[in-house]
This record gives sequence, C-alpha cells and structure tokens, in this order.
Amino acid sequence: MVSTIVIGAQWGDEGKGKVVDLLAKDADLVARFNGGNNAGHTVVVDGKKYKFHLMPSGAVQGKRCLIGAGIALDPKVLKEEIEQLNWDKDPNLAIDPRTQIIMPWHNALDNAKEASKGDGKIGTTGRGIGPCYADRASRTGLRFCDLVDSKRLKEKIDREFEAKEKILKNVYNSEIPVSKEEIFAEYDALGKEFVKYYADVSKEVSTALEAGKNVLFEGAQGTFLDNDFGTYPYVTSSHPTAGAIFTGLGIGIRPIERIIGIVKAYTTRVGEGPFVTELKGKIGDSIREKGQEFGTTTGRPRRIGWLDLVLLRTSIRLNGFTEIALTKLDVLTGLEKIMVCTEYECEGKTCKELPADLDKLAECKPIYKEMPGFEMDSTATSMEQIPKEAQEYVAFIEKELGIKAKIVSVGPGRKETIVR
Ligand code: GDP
Ligand code: IMO
Ligand code: MG
Repeated sequence: MVSTIVIGAQWGDEGKGKVVDLLAKDADLVARFNGGNNAGHTVVVDGKKYKFHLMPSGAVQGKRCLIGAGIALDPKVLKEEIEQLNWDKDPNLAIDPRTQIIMPWHNALDNAKEASKGDGKIGTTGRGIGPCYADRASRTGLRFCDLVDSKRLKEKIDREFEAKEKILKNVYNSEIPVSKEEIFAEYDALGKEFVKYYADVSKEVSTALEAGKNVLFEGAQGTFLDNDFGTYPYVTSSHPTAGAIFTGLGIGIRPIERIIGIVKAYTTRVGEGPFVTELKGKIGDSIREKGQEFGTTTGRPRRIGWLDLVLLRTSIRLNGFTEIALTKLDVLTGLEKIMVCTEYECEGKTCKELPADLDKLAECKPIYKEMPGFEMDSTATSMEQIPKEAQEYVAFIEKELGIKAKIVSVGPGRKETIVR
C-alpha cells in the first residue's frame, strides 16, 4: 500500500479529519507532524462525533497514532482528549521525545500579545501555539523528554517561569495565572502519566517507510496558514504544507506516492487576514448555517467565501498534490447560482496565482465564473447520483486546476463519500 499525505488546501477546516479516518482503514501508522491543539479535526462514524485536537484522526480506526517532533503539545489537552474517548484501553499512541510542550505561560503570552494588538490582532486560537514555537526557535522550549524527567522539568520551569513572568508583567501588564509550584506539580504528574507513550517517532516512521508500510501523514491547519507561504502575518506558527512531513517527523526526503489536497467546495477562514472571495451578506450566512461553519476548537463563526481557484492553483504548486478530495459539496445545495473565482485582478492585470506580497493580495479583486445551482442531499455514493449541475461544478474545478478529485464528500459521515 502507498503512503499518503493529507493536507488542508485552503485556510483549514476543509474536512481533513473525515478523509484521514476514511484512509486510515488501510494505514499501518497515522502521524501528525505540525501544529498543536489549534487544530480541530472532526470524524463522524455511525452518527457518533469525535473531535480531535492532538490525537491523530486514525484513532477511531484503532490505528497506531504518532505525534512527531514538529507538534506543539499541550499535555492537559491531550489528557482531556484521551479521557473523552472513554475507551476501555489506552490509545496506541507514541510521542516523540523532541516534541515541544505548551506551558501555561505560552497561553498567557498568546492572549496578552493579541490583546495588545487591538484591531491588528491575528485572531489566534489562544492556545499558546505562537509563543511555544517561538521558544523552540529561541532554543528555550521544554520538550517531551523534559516533561518525563522530574529533575529537568523543575530546572526548566524555574528558569522559564521567571523569564516569562518578567515579559508578561513589564511588556503586557499581565501575569501567569498559576504559581510555579502548581505548574510543576501538574506537569510532573502529566509527565509520569504520559511516559508510557515515549517513543522515537522519527525512527519508527523511517523504519516503517523502509519496510514499505503504509504511513498516513495527517496535516493540521491549511496551506495559507503556513508560516512562510501563507497570508503572513495572518498565519499559524508551523508549516501545514506537505514538505513539513520530513522536518516535522524527522525522516529523510523521499517520494511519497499520494499527496491529497483537501478542498472545501467553497472557502472558509477563521481569524483575521485578507480573503478575496469573502461573502459578507445573506448567501454567506446561509452557507455558514448549512455547513455548520463554527470552529471545532474555539466555536467562532467561520468567514465564508466562494471557491477560489487562484488560491488552489498556488496550493497545488506549494504542496505537489497528486489529487484532491472535494468536501462539503452537499452544503452548496439550494443556491440559485454558484460563483467560482478563476483569476484575480491585481495591479491592473489578471493573475492566476496568489501574489507573494500580502499588501498586494489585500487589493486583489475576484474574477468570477457563474455556474448554475443544484439541489442535492448526502445519499449519493457515485457521481451519477448527484445532479448534472453538481457534476459540472466538479468537472470545471478539475479542468481549471488540471487535477482529479478522487474523493468527493457529500456529508460528514464516513459513508457519505463518493470514492472514484
Ligand atoms: P478539519 O479541521 O479539516 O478536520 O475540518 P473540521 O472538522 O474542523 O471541519 C469540517 C466540518 O465539516 C466537520 O464538522 C465535519 O464533520 C464536516 N464535514 C466534513 N465533510 C463534510 C461533507 O462533505 N459535508 C458536510 N455537510 N459536512 C462535512
Ligand atoms: P484545523 O487543523 C482553521 C488559524 C487561527 C488564526 C491563525 C493563527 O482544524 O484545520 P494560532 O492559534 O495557530 O496561532 O492561530 O490560524 N487556525 C486555524 N484555522 N483551522 C485550523 O486548524 C486552525 N489552526 C489555526 O484561527 O487565524
Ligand atoms: Mg478544523
């Protein structure tokens, strides 16, 4: 079986969790390589809904789940997530010793920084992601290998608590809401509980790939939240693009046969930043309601817009997608007409890819192709069973992008899927 990378092609929440669950059936390992509990991945099986923030979505299929060094791990959230699963046995989980740990001062800094920016805020999830990755880059972070070693944990908490307390107090007039002693007691207990998951994920994935096993790489966030290639500064602090599997897990570069871009049949984004095809009126509201577009992690209403092929062309290039999975096609039901953005008007010219400079992007205007609407539900299991207009919508996207939609999702449930 071939190894597969699943990547969000837009700004996140494309339905990665659903597709990972579907593909996990044939996988030996399911590995997360980026982000942290800013992610919210939903899996629906037989009407039961699972919401994953850190645990790879392959957990529902009972697969071995791996958390790579590229993750920012909040152990309190992982504990809650494991408890919520309410399983009679431990999940088959491995955490790389090099994984960065989110500490309470990261959350405090995330929120204090956002508050200080006023209207210029990024609209982060407030989960401490940015400050945790900043500490990784500054080489002051705590890692999973520190969490499971009481002596080292104490030394590092002593050092970092004081440094972060000063910044919070002097720069942001804020504070860490818990004492150093409470933090040590809580995190030391978490380390003792999680030491059973300690495993060299880098070696495990490398060995599995060498042996020809099927590894499923589960991306979090979406391409345009990439710290370098997204709509910076309105991005996250890790790399949600396909290349990050190598650095996020610690494996040598090699071809991966299947790289699937998960594409929502329209566009959404949470938080601030430019959004060329955004719909601010009634149509956007009705898509939000029908698609239940409220954040899995924060509950915030997601911003809605038409499908943007300029974004997707850029995404295909950045990730090297070999195919796409088109999700939430059913949500477009009942609209009189559907618009697809094929190009932007940018500085008096038309452009087919996103400009690299965010200030230019903010000035871009969408050029739309109008398509007829359609009525459909979530029961179709083949393309022939969806309306002709919906088939044409999919065919138009494929033709414009030069890529096949091998999976078309028509509902949240595992079975509500057309595999072509
Ligand atoms: P992720 O972060 O990419 O895993 O996506 P989320 O789970 O945050 O958001 C996607 C939402 O859409 C979830 O509530 C899914 O259950 C739901 N969903 C996924 N695919 C479909 C689909 O084809 N149709 C509908 N109606 N809902 C879907
Ligand atoms: P999944 O994996 C959608 C967004 C936040 C904010 C920006 C920075 O479910 O697709 P951060 O907390 O990461 O510093 O916030 O990134 N964001 C997401 N938006 N889906 C996600 O994950 C996201 N993870 C972060 O809303 O705009
Ligand atoms: Mg999500």
